[in-house]
Amino acid sequence: MMEEMNGKVAIITGATFGIGREAAILFAEQGIKVVAAGRSEKEGSLLVDEILSKKGEAVFVKTDVAKEESVKQLIAAALKKFGKLDLCFNNAGVEGVLAPLIDLEEKDWDSTMGINLKGLWLCLKHEIPAIIKNGGGAIVNTSSIISKNGMPGTTIYAASKAGVDALTHVAAVEYGDRKIRVNAINPGAVATPMLERVYTQDLANLVKNKNPLQKIALPRDIANAALWLCSSYAGHINGITLPIDGGHSLLT
Ligand SMILES: NC(=O)c1ccc[n+]([C@@H]2O[C@H](COP(=O)([O-])OP(=O)(O)OC[C@H]3O[C@@H](n4cnc5c(N)ncnc54)[C@H](O)[C@@H]3O)[C@@H](O)[C@H]2O)c1
Repeated sequence: MMEEMNGKVAIITGATFGIGREAAILFAEQGIKVVAAGRSEKEGSLLVDEILSKKGEAVFVKTDVAKEESVKQLIAAALKKFGKLDLCFNNAGVEGVLAPLIDLEEKDWDSTMGINLKGLWLCLKHEIPAIIKNGGGAIVNTSSIISKNGMPGTTIYAASKAGVDALTHVAAVEYGDRKIRVNAINPGAVATPMLERVYTQDLANLVKNKNPLQKIALPRDIANAALWLCSSYAGHINGITLPIDGGHSLLT
């Protein structure tokens, strides 16, 4: 357990599945009060029940990060329930339509960008004032290694995640003087429902076999990095985009 995290308040978006769900459990294990945001009430209440059963503290707030009113309500709910905001793990995201660039439709662009990029900006916009009010804190955004490597078929997703990297850089320099560190994590393949939707078994085996560590990341691997970036152990780290891919991207 990371004692220093005990009593802090964290918003985690995309907390109903995959990386965000695991982060909610990990953060709660450290004594962090978790505000879990996501779209599914059912998954949200299962998550909260799991955290409460382990003596953690958590609340679920049904949220669509692509809608400003919904994001405002999330921050208001966090402040109402726990009285302050220290940490945010902006992790909600979708893979969207994966297809060659010329086969994509305008609506595909708008929906993926609306969640992955506009949604992240809306979260930052409303989280930062609440964290400033609290005297500072830390934010971690979930990008992807794909923001940097031009994988075929990922036009909109890759562009949205490159935007996440850029927003991270700008927010880090704009709010560092208000004692807010803003960083991004850039996972490679992680064993989550998203990966199951995107990868065939053949592709999954290929990723695994080509990885220098010979494995696909587990959600806990990514959650651990997010927790570390939120902690004082990363106290002088601001504005980075951290690859978490076992070294895979070094080979491509
Ligand atoms: N799984 C991977 O291989 C991988 C690799 C690199 C980056 N990522 C990124 O990690 C993050 C988490 O992905 P995951 O693999 O856990 O995916 P997942 O599909 O398992 O979970 C995504 C979560 O985001 C939530 N979400 C989606 N749209 C939302 C919206 N409009 N408002 C609120 N919540 C919303 C979903 O409900 C879900 O809880 C995403 O940003 C994804 O792009 C995943």
